[in-house]
Amino acid sequence: MPTEIKVPTLGESVSSATIARWLKQPGEAIAADEAVVELETDKVSVEVSAPEAGTLGAHRVAEGDEVEVGAVLTTVEAGSGAAAAPAAAPAKAPAKAEPASSGSPAKPNPPAPTGAPAAEPSAVGDTDYDVIVIGAGPGGYVCAIRAAQLGMKVACVEKRATLGGTCLNIGCIPSKALLQSSESFHEAKHGMADHGIVLGEVKLDLARMHARKQEVVAANTKGVEFLFKKNNVTWLKGAGRITAPHTVEVDGKSVTAKHVIIATGSDSTSLPGIEIDEKRVVSSTGALELDAVPETMIVIGGGVIGLELGSVWSRLGAKVTVVEFLDRLVPGIDGEVAKSFQRVLGKQGLQFKLGHKVTKVDTAGEKARVTIEKAAGGNAETVDADIVLVAVGRRPVTDGLGLQELGVELSKRGQVVVDKHYRTNVAGLYAIGDVIDGPMLAHKAEDEGVALAEMLAGQAGHVNYGVIPAVVYTWPEVAGVGRIEEDLKADGVEYVVGKFPFSANGRARAMNATDGFVKILADKKTDRLLGAHILGPDAGTLIAELATAMEFGASAEDVARICHAHPTLSEAVKEAALDADKRALHI
Ligand code: NAI
Repeated sequence: MPTEIKVPTLGESVSSATIARWLKQPGEAIAADEAVVELETDKVSVEVSAPEAGTLGAHRVAEGDEVEVGAVLTTVEAGSGAAAAPAAAPAKAPAKAEPASSGSPAKPNPPAPTGAPAAEPSAVGDTDYDVIVIGAGPGGYVCAIRAAQLGMKVACVEKRATLGGTCLNIGCIPSKALLQSSESFHEAKHGMADHGIVLGEVKLDLARMHARKQEVVAANTKGVEFLFKKNNVTWLKGAGRITAPHTVEVDGKSVTAKHVIIATGSDSTSLPGIEIDEKRVVSSTGALELDAVPETMIVIGGGVIGLELGSVWSRLGAKVTVVEFLDRLVPGIDGEVAKSFQRVLGKQGLQFKLGHKVTKVDTAGEKARVTIEKAAGGNAETVDADIVLVAVGRRPVTDGLGLQELGVELSKRGQVVVDKHYRTNVAGLYAIGDVIDGPMLAHKAEDEGVALAEMLAGQAGHVNYGVIPAVVYTWPEVAGVGRIEEDLKADGVEYVVGKFPFSANGRARAMNATDGFVKILADKKTDRLLGAHILGPDAGTLIAELATAMEFGASAEDVARICHAHPTLSEAVKEAALDADKRALHI
């Protein structure tokens, strides 16, 4: 009896879709999981795959037809078609596992996906779990929770003593705690007199600052543990190694799942010949733990980590010099914003050596001796520093996972290669987050985790990669979403620019926070928002409005016509949108 391939659930408020394209023709042999047809809604484009290998039946609907969720699209006759999607390693039957180490009550399997993008391969027999996620960072733990919410039996493998991955333990959260504390310290020292507040001597208790940071971290990591319990996600403690398709070994025990998801994140990199000892030559991890404020600090790399952590120690009293290979800061953000950002940070005391590189760090003496030369090479100079922070990027973590043995395809940069449904080239194995291509951002990983869990449940999970905001949490903050002006120019897109400075915003003046501006890029013909970039107070929060607007396909005029409360920083967003039509009111 042929199996019907139906229109999958496409999201909570979506009841129908249009047939964009048939990818397979009647009578064609298809593999399990192979995409058969592409559907489109006004929000997403979704491929529907065959739940099993076989021969495709007649198309029941034509390209361009509108179809309801649940409608039959075609059928597949099992057995007579292509083999199952290729698994790089021999598909040996998954070993029956030991009971899970910290078991949660078994939940019924989710309903079988009907024509879901990443449908469960029919060849997989009984498994311990529906889903095993390796890594409990923002990508992994969110994916685990969402999969559990959708009725799947889920385990998450994590070797760290606490959940939350790099972000919660040694990344976003502790750095934001220190950024907040150091900002308060700086404000107490330098920003109060202007408000008519006279303080006595402001002293630093660095040990307490670190302790508070740890309290913030613990509250967050414990929070994830609570969420795992609430959602019946089993935490398998230990390092996971994929020993065969659908099989993960954790702490000497084999566990099996229909779907195994790699969410192992990323790790700091260094430069050739520069060894990170986390004492004097530190990565972001060591820079969050310094037990004294260094007198001098050299930051290698003027990216997000270098500027955030450089700002922390500069505010606490260090003389910080940032050495950046390129002739600008934070590659990837709008160039005009980057220039103003550098000026503002310069006023705060950070020094910059753009177009320079560090070629050597000698730690034999009392201070680290840093050799710096022009990016293109030339005369070298040496500078002494108490601390050297290496912040030149991160690399995907794939070591020890058994990927090579399984034949999992990796890119030249060491990322796990996946298709649009986060599938690797091995059946039942997926990857999300920093370990795959794209910006290494916690929220990107989270959204991928949710999308994948929904695809596995037969829904139309989706990430809009054109609308992923990015934020640098300095003071002022930098935030951007969508396209930058340089890229629009390079692509020959006709656009208009709307800009508004915080110096003309009443609330920013009242806050003594007038550095920066909002910049909006809109299509010249249609006025549709193409990108938005903010340097200013609370830019990271303000950008959410513009991301929302972009998700809804708004024009600059749409944003300009929204009533923004007065007096708020968000009025600068409205004014920038008005300025795209050269009719800003307050400048
Ligand atoms: P990054 O890629 O943001 O910046 C690295 C910088 O180092 C670049 O500007 C690069 O040109 C420079 N560089 C490379 N080699 C150099 C050399 N030999 N000498 C001098 N400069 C050199 O990397 P970063 O700051 O290490 O951050 C890693 C990742 O973590 C990024 O993807 C970032 O987006 C993410 N992250 C995001 C945060 C946020 O969203 N607020 C916070 C922290 C990290």
